[in-house]
Amino acid sequence: MQKQTDTEAALLNKYPEPVVLVTTRSAAGRPNVMAAGWVMLASDDPVMFALGIDDESYTYALIRETREFVVAFPHEGMARETLYAGTHHGHKIEKLTLAGLTAQDGVKVKAPLLADAIANFECELVEITKPGNCPLIVGKVIAAHENATPGLRRLFNTAKGYKLGGVSSKSES
Ligand SMILES: Cc1cc2nc3c(=O)[nH]c(=O)nc-3n(C[C@H](O)[C@H](O)[C@H](O)COP(=O)(O)O)c2cc1C
Repeated sequence: MQKQTDTEAALLNKYPEPVVLVTTRSAAGRPNVMAAGWVMLASDDPVMFALGIDDESYTYALIRETREFVVAFPHEGMARETLYAGTHHGHKIEKLTLAGLTAQDGVKVKAPLLADAIANFECELVEITKPGNCPLIVGKVIAAHENATPGLRRLFNTAKGYKLGGVSSKSES
């Protein structure tokens, strides 16, 4: 049986939420990275990601400028780097290096891959809409890469306030 509550309270039930890292590169060649939990697959033929990206972020400015980005899946050992990328703006700092992340060249876009991520998806911008207060960015995957090390597990935001870590299923315990 359901009891009515306010939306904020009901939304606390969304965790664990998968986290991705979104990389970009300015026209001048400087890379940037941010964390994003508002992410979903928006199409599977062609494969597309949809991301909710705050319009005050440097990432939003760079995606509009370059019309490309990379979606990377961090593994559960990348919580510190992901928290740094998600709590500092890149307008004035070279955040990717400061976060302790290692960049690798992609094949289609100038935005960097993250060498340690589980997988990287090079995307070209399809559209930006604004259904609410947050721009919704849709990108088409034009190249994909995965980590040569098997068995890495995704990083999740497990609770309000950016509690980052892995999640284990009952069958694994
Ligand atoms: C776990 C986590 C998830 C986040 N999810 C989002 C998100 O979905 N959308 C968003 O705009 N910001 C999100 N943020 C905040 C951005 O990563 C943060 O504002 C970042 O500093 C933006 O960097 P930039 O200005 O260099 O682009 C998240 C942060 C964390 C730590």
